[in-house]
Amino acid sequence: MPGEDIGEEPQPLEGGSSHHSPLPADDSGNRHPPLPAGISPTRGEIDKTETSAAADLPPCGGSEGRARPVARPGVRQGRGGGQGTNPDDKSVSPVLAVRGLETEFRIGRSVYHASNGVDLTIRPGECLGLVGESGSGKSVTAMSLMGLVPSPPGVIAGGRIGFKGEDLADAPDGRIRALRGGAVSHVFQDPLATLHPLFAVGDQVVEAIRAHQPLGRKAAAEKARDLLDLVRIPNAARRMKALPHELSGGLRQRVSIAIALANDPDLIIADEPTTALDVTVQAEVLRLLDELRRERRTAVLFITHDFGVVSEIADKVAVMYAGRIVETGKTAEILARPAHPYTRMLIDCVPVMGEPERRLDAVPGRPPAVNRLPPGCAFADRCPRVRPDCREGEIELEPKRGSLEARCLYPLGPGEALSGEADPREARP
Ligand SMILES: Nc1ncnc2c1ncn2[C@@H]1O[C@H](COP(=O)(O)OP(=O)(O)OP(=O)(O)O)[C@@H](O)[C@H]1O
Ligand code: SF4
Ligand SMILES: [Mg+2]
Repeated sequence: MPGEDIGEEPQPLEGGSSHHSPLPADDSGNRHPPLPAGISPTRGEIDKTETSAAADLPPCGGSEGRARPVARPGVRQGRGGGQGTNPDDKSVSPVLAVRGLETEFRIGRSVYHASNGVDLTIRPGECLGLVGESGSGKSVTAMSLMGLVPSPPGVIAGGRIGFKGEDLADAPDGRIRALRGGAVSHVFQDPLATLHPLFAVGDQVVEAIRAHQPLGRKAAAEKARDLLDLVRIPNAARRMKALPHELSGGLRQRVSIAIALANDPDLIIADEPTTALDVTVQAEVLRLLDELRRERRTAVLFITHDFGVVSEIADKVAVMYAGRIVETGKTAEILARPAHPYTRMLIDCVPVMGEPERRLDAVPGRPPAVNRLPPGCAFADRCPRVRPDCREGEIELEPKRGSLEARCLYPLGPGEALSGEADPREARP
């Protein structure tokens, strides 16, 4: 397994990562791409207005969707976000088919199993939400796909990363670089960390286009302006000259999405792309991503810790815990009646609009360190349903009911609460 081959470009794991090559650090220690020849730092116009062109858009979540009205959305149980793609349609070949991905960090004598036998499948136009607590391995899994895990100490120790039928785990560095920013693009949490601060945003979109397409500067500039239009940036022609700091957070994230779309990707990996945004802008950016992936049939791997966000955009969900997928299935089924106790507890962490009396449960305890995983179920120490045999042997991810697969010996039945009694939510009219 040539994991070392594809991890040669050390990158920060959070937000600051980009698909560019190794970058020089500025005075603040941030890494940015150098200014390309012929382009000087540009002074743009200061305009922080977030003209909400997205207010004209239809709501996301399909025809029955609504905009998210409040600070933290309620989970739309039983609704799900997917209307554009049928996750059952096995006749369509997956864009991404990851099997048994193992990414480790080898530090001293310790081996941290950050991604521990992960399977993911995403078809064209489909959005898979990868959910889990901090440190569960979401970003490492996503970074592994395009060789962005810092190496050393990161190593892809096993598995297959199938992208449109090609195994990227075995692909040479040049091939991975050609795909990165082209057929596969990223949107990160913090656009300020991924955009060059001294570079007009239009020029940055132009560079992204020209890195993968043989277009002259003028044609690329026209395409860049069209892309800024596409992501609903008002006055796109004028905003081309703006510097990143002259735009609001929402507009900056739209520029990042324009860059991600620049080369018609087959797959967008979005790692917490809305976490840094206020909720109104978050809703707009989610709506935009949702609409664009449906229009363009782009597969999306959407990483978040927030089940409220998942309910807005994902067709399918994979719940990650201590480096493993512990439950997966269609969004609507998972939200309505999850099988794994951890999923139930994560969903219960989300406030529900109109239910102020509802008790908000945090998941008690902490996940185990991934260099010292216990035998049996990694969730056992926090699980209210634990029994002695949960701590004994390997527990496989197995089909439970409907589309749900879970890694659990005593899954929740439909309508069953964590305590084993009937779930009081089921009794609601
Ligand atoms: N550079 C690194 N060196 C060593 N271990 C690392 C490194 N990056 C990640 N890890 C390990 O991988 C685990 C998963 O990290 P990852 O960043 O994927 O979590 P995450 O699910 O994305 O969390 P968050 O929601 O906070 O972004 C961490 O708990 C840590 O043990
Ligand atoms: S296997 Fe046992 S400990 Fe683990 S989640 Fe299921 S019931 Fe809980
Ligand atoms: Mg992360």
